[in-house]
Amino acid sequence: MSPIATGVSPSQNGTADLNRGEQVVDLAVASQNQGQALADVPALDLFSLAGKAVIVTGGARGLGLCIGTALLEAKCGHVYCCDVLPEPNVEEWARAKQAAKKYGGSISYTQLDITNVDAVNSTFEKIYDESEYEVSGLLAAAGIQQMVPSLEYPAADFRRIMDVNVAGTFFTIQAAARQMVKHKIAGSIAIIASMSGSIANKGLTCLAYNTSKAALLQMCRSAAAEWGQHRIRVNTLSPGYIRTAMTDQLLEVRPDLEEEWLRGSMLNRLSTPDEFRGPVLFLLSKASSFTTGADLIVDGGHTAY
Ligand SMILES: NC(=O)c1ccc[n+]([C@@H]2O[C@H](COP(=O)([O-])OP(=O)(O)OC[C@H]3O[C@@H](n4cnc5c(N)ncnc54)[C@H](O)[C@@H]3O)[C@@H](O)[C@H]2O)c1
Repeated sequence: MSPIATGVSPSQNGTADLNRGEQVVDLAVASQNQGQALADVPALDLFSLAGKAVIVTGGARGLGLCIGTALLEAKCGHVYCCDVLPEPNVEEWARAKQAAKKYGGSISYTQLDITNVDAVNSTFEKIYDESEYEVSGLLAAAGIQQMVPSLEYPAADFRRIMDVNVAGTFFTIQAAARQMVKHKIAGSIAIIASMSGSIANKGLTCLAYNTSKAALLQMCRSAAAEWGQHRIRVNTLSPGYIRTAMTDQLLEVRPDLEEEWLRGSMLNRLSTPDEFRGPVLFLLSKASSFTTGADLIVDGGHTAY
């Protein structure tokens, strides 16, 4: 049966010829999933990553590795974790390995500095050439944070934040998109931005971090606009405060911040990395087939206050 809604004649480019005054087509129905109309895929199966592989930067620990593990739970064939650290966190990696075993996938680790553009391109090229699964996704989660009053911000530190969070993220999404185009893959790129890209955090002196995360929101929109023609979707996820090594370091220096952060949350609590599994899975799967250039804010209502 045609993937186009019944009774409608598709024109050559796959959309209905509305000039003939025929029925209006539901274009979502016309979307294809390896020859099967998306509308015929049962709703929960839309989130399955069976037969796919995903690259995760910042995949040595924290949010990146937690979500990498979740991708395995969603039947992802292989998760390629990359991070500047020589090795992933031992306990978190053991959990990921367990999930791989339980759900029939696999996970591997490569040390990679995302600011090294040549290394990023060659690592991604190797992954795409060697993967037995279609590498349909990239989760760009690598990032750094620093608290310095902006009147005193050292130039080198400001540049470092921009280098990692903005330039490094761009190198990774560019390298992935190049490979997706080369291998004709309809891919999805999810960038971890932050609610800090849309607000100034009360009590925090994080001007460089906030500026870098705001840049990611614009990078996402511009990349999505250029790469949509290649069937590549690009979106950002903007989390609120999460308890990870990054925030633990901040709270060690400024324990008073926790109360401030709780006041900002409509749910009166911080989040945990696992609460971002669903949102990222949505972005990296067919469930978000018409979502691109968007920012998904998952912040316990913080930015809505
Ligand atoms: N923790 C939060 O409250 C919070 C909130 C919003 C957004 N985020 C974002 O989520 C992402 C993950 O952060 P996290 O909280 O899990 O912190 P994290 O420090 O545990 O994880 C960040 C990872 O990025 C890696 N990384 C840093 N520089 C790199 C480089 N040059 N090349 C490759 N990898 C590099 C680190 O080694 C680390 O493993 C970051 O982008 C962060 O900005 C965090």
